[in-house]
Amino acid sequence: MKFFVDSADVAAIAELNDLGMVDGVTTNPSIILKSGRDIIEVTREICAIVSGPVSAEVVATKADDMIAEGRKLATIAPNIAVKVPLTWDGLRACKVLTGEGKMVNVTLCFSVNQALIAAKAGATFISPFIGRLDDINLDGMELIADIRQVYDNYGFDTQILAASIRSANHVSQCALVGADVMTAPPAVIKALASHALTDKGLEQFEKDWAKTGQKIL
Ligand code: G3P
Repeated sequence: MKFFVDSADVAAIAELNDLGMVDGVTTNPSIILKSGRDIIEVTREICAIVSGPVSAEVVATKADDMIAEGRKLATIAPNIAVKVPLTWDGLRACKVLTGEGKMVNVTLCFSVNQALIAAKAGATFISPFIGRLDDINLDGMELIADIRQVYDNYGFDTQILAASIRSANHVSQCALVGADVMTAPPAVIKALASHALTDKGLEQFEKDWAKTGQKIL
């Protein structure tokens, strides 16, 4: 499973990238707001660090305007994936932009049918939002598994990009049900190394080592 970082925090992305944890990056208007940065400038900085797909989202609602915004965003770097919302206008923009050879990430997906029509429109990535479904007492992970089955049934090559990931448990569940990609905030990716028994075991090893009086270096 590929790891994308759901953030526009350049320092956090660079740190994870140095550890080999970054296959791509996703952003959205809320993430850009949180960064306090100009969308073009910060996206260009991210693309200079990360060689995989970097999603930058359009904000227009009409297809022609989305296409124009998508073309502008795609000039930032060759690894830009234009992010469009799952509306008919968004799908029209998806069809046109992928026809021009650009990567397109169709976002705000909450149903199997939405994922199906995004694949038919040629989406490079489909972004189902797990956490936001869980928030309203629906099962986000079940949606990922259902989309996996439908895409496999018909051989769609649109990649399932599990989004709105809020916990380490979401990450392991995504890997188990076969998401192609998961995108998570840096704090969630960092939490993947944590285990109470690792901490406890390390503490014991440190105590016992001190008692040996030895040194390795
Ligand atoms: O990639 C989409 C993601 O950022 C949404 O996450 O936590 O705002 O639902 P969240």
